[in-house]
Amino acid sequence: MAEVVLVTGGASGIGAAVARRFAGRGAQVVIADVNPAGEQVAAEIGGLFVRTDVARLADNEAAVAAARKAFGRLDIVHLNAGIGGGGTELDLDLYRRIMAVNLDGTIFGIRAAVASGARAIVVTASLAGVSPSQFDPVYSASKHAIVGLVRSLEIPGVTLNTVCPGFIDTPIIAEARDFLLEHGMALADPDEVAAAVEQVVRGGETNQVWEVQAGRPPTLVQFPTIDLSRAEPSRNLHTTSATAGEGLR
Ligand SMILES: NC(=O)c1ccc[n+]([C@@H]2O[C@H](COP(=O)([O-])OP(=O)(O)OC[C@H]3O[C@@H](n4cnc5c(N)ncnc54)[C@H](O)[C@@H]3O)[C@@H](O)[C@H]2O)c1
Repeated sequence: MAEVVLVTGGASGIGAAVARRFAGRGAQVVIADVNPAGEQVAAEIGGLFVRTDVARLADNEAAVAAARKAFGRLDIVHLNAGIGGGGTELDLDLYRRIMAVNLDGTIFGIRAAVASGARAIVVTASLAGVSPSQFDPVYSASKHAIVGLVRSLEIPGVTLNTVCPGFIDTPIIAEARDFLLEHGMALADPDEVAAAVEQVVRGGETNQVWEVQAGRPPTLVQFPTIDLSRAEPSRNLHTTSATAGEGLR
């Protein structure tokens, strides 16, 4: 039976590459995006487009429901929709919009994916989620939050991982593209990220963070090992591992 895959932000760039890659493997693919261009990508791969604003919980729930209705179930969810452009002024409207799409979109997407029975979730964070990004601190903060969430959240029976791309040649970097090339930065093809997403899903591990850079194999990001659960005298501020993630079901 064909796998069913839902990709947020699948109308463009990395998400479209992931959609095409999984469709090429025989999967049924649902593209969930605010951009109606997702209709064309879906038509090209024989998939389904669902207009979705990931910053709205109801839209996330409607997208997974549409996937189940069309294809009977949902196996893999790639939470990839994201925006940048927060600037350095800490503009509050931009801050709230970036957090709404990048972080709320991830939290809402995970809730909807788990409720729908998906068994593998991959989130697109960024290298700006594991290293500083002076050009876009709010974007960097949103991606750090995703990395922390993915490393921390245990969901029984579901793998949850993140890919952290470097610079990828997609519309999101259009304004910076010439500058990056002039400064010798390598831009990866979006399919390099798609290949990493597929590898991470097939790996079957969870709570991992994978760096994806142009022309290099995906690399597991290593962090200092500090286990908070051992340091705490009392765990009553946190869920215990026995109950972790169960409330999502
Ligand atoms: N391109 C890069 O260099 C790069 C590097 C690191 C991380 N990323 C991340 O990769 C992801 C995909 O970006 P991309 O590079 O393919 O750029 P992109 O602009 O081509 O694609 C982003 C997609 O997300 C969609 N989107 C935006 N807001 C949305 C919302 N509220 N609801 C649903 N869909 C929404 C857009 O319509 C678009 O189709 C993003 O999370 C981005 O932060 C990109």
